Amino acid sequence: MSLLIKNGRIVTADSDWVGDVWCEGETITRIGRDLEAPPGAEVIDATGKFVFPGFIDPHVHVYLPFMGTFAKDTYETASQAALVGGTTTLIEMCCPSRSDDALEGFELWMSQAVGKSACDFTFHMGVTKFDDATESQLREIVRRGNPSFKIFLAYKGAFGIDDSELYRTLKLAKELGVIVTAHCENETLIAERAKELLAAGVTGPEGHHESRPPRVEAEGVHHLMTFAELTGAATYIVHLSCQEALAEALAARQRGVRVSVETLIQYLLLDKSDAERVNFEGAKFVMSPPLRDRRNQPVLWNGLRDGLVQTVATDHAPFDFQTQKPMGRDDFTRIPNGIPSLEERVNLLYTYGVKAGKLDLNTFVNVASTQAARLFGLFPRKGTIAPGSDADLVIFDPEYRGTISAATQKMNVDYSAFEGWKLEGRASLVTVRGQVAVRDGQFGGTLGRGQYLQREPTHRAV
Ligand code: URP
Ligand code: ZN
Ligand code: ZN
Repeated sequence: MSLLIKNGRIVTADSDWVGDVWCEGETITRIGRDLEAPPGAEVIDATGKFVFPGFIDPHVHVYLPFMGTFAKDTYETASQAALVGGTTTLIEMCCPSRSDDALEGFELWMSQAVGKSACDFTFHMGVTKFDDATESQLREIVRRGNPSFKIFLAYKGAFGIDDSELYRTLKLAKELGVIVTAHCENETLIAERAKELLAAGVTGPEGHHESRPPRVEAEGVHHLMTFAELTGAATYIVHLSCQEALAEALAARQRGVRVSVETLIQYLLLDKSDAERVNFEGAKFVMSPPLRDRRNQPVLWNGLRDGLVQTVATDHAPFDFQTQKPMGRDDFTRIPNGIPSLEERVNLLYTYGVKAGKLDLNTFVNVASTQAARLFGLFPRKGTIAPGSDADLVIFDPEYRGTISAATQKMNVDYSAFEGWKLEGRASLVTVRGQVAVRDGQFGGTLGRGQYLQREPTHRAV
């Protein structure tokens, strides 16, 4: 299996030039100009197209028992959707409930992916309790090549942990060189405000964002930052949505707290008016933290541009509009939280970020691929185009024009939050470790070929 990609505009986080990429087996072995193809090699003409490193989504949910139901995708459907959209590596949140042990949870999540996924994958290990058995199990999970954790300050009773559990998790993470990813919202404020809203007769989807205003998220970030400062652990704030929360993270970073920030394609492009659509349509847009006022969008775009925000993820969490979102028809606190977007993240970020002049090409690659690889111990195997890196490549056609529709998507969910949105450019050919998995935008990969990516801890004390 050898592949020569010719005359593409090869863009990484720090370079941009026209040339050829030569892949032997699963690996990139040469990059240069006027490379000759040996007999038997497949030659792909990338003239007029970009060649990007495979994109990495550092925050997805595939197997997710949550709010009395299950997210709709499986690794078979999610990995196809990811690849069609140019994402070649998934980092899934492994979220056992508080009644499960960490190791059991890790093995369960692994069993959902191994032998099923068409793209490579790894996990952020959810620490949803910290009891006497947890520490040795987490050490074992890190030994098995999984050196990143996930904690929730919200969802008490499901995944949320208390402050002593938070402290113990961060202490262990610091010792092991593990990075802790965190959902930051103040659970008590949410619960009290939701009770008040429901009592006042506010039951529809708009109650969701009313119960979780920006200060609720900012308080969560502030809280995490205090614990990170006192333990010295490396932290990563997932799905940051607003200026108030970013200000808390930046203030902490200035004090020397080790913190990276992720935002989502949803927060960059959608806003709370979507969650206010009539006839319960707003439920399609219920997620946590909630969609915000539009004033936050330039703050997030500029944060990406200036390196204050490190990554753009999806927090992909698909729940059907017809059968699952209505669990909360009379009570917004019961609407399954999540907005699917795994398939469209890269194409949307290119169209509304790069083409719109908000991000340059190198920053686009950096925030959608390279930074995640660096933060989570995948670099330089993933996240760049260099000899020795996995041959995960996206040939991206900037001339493509299309419209997003649930009718044609691979994600196993009955709606698209971006229905009718125009695309100017798309991933047209995608390789996973040297094998073509998408051609002309159509999936042609191999289910089950995706590998679990073993990683080393990369956040040892400095
Ligand atoms: O609404 C969301 N974000 N659903 C998925 C679970 C989470 O909080 O990441
Ligand atoms: Zn979350
Ligand atoms: Zn999530």
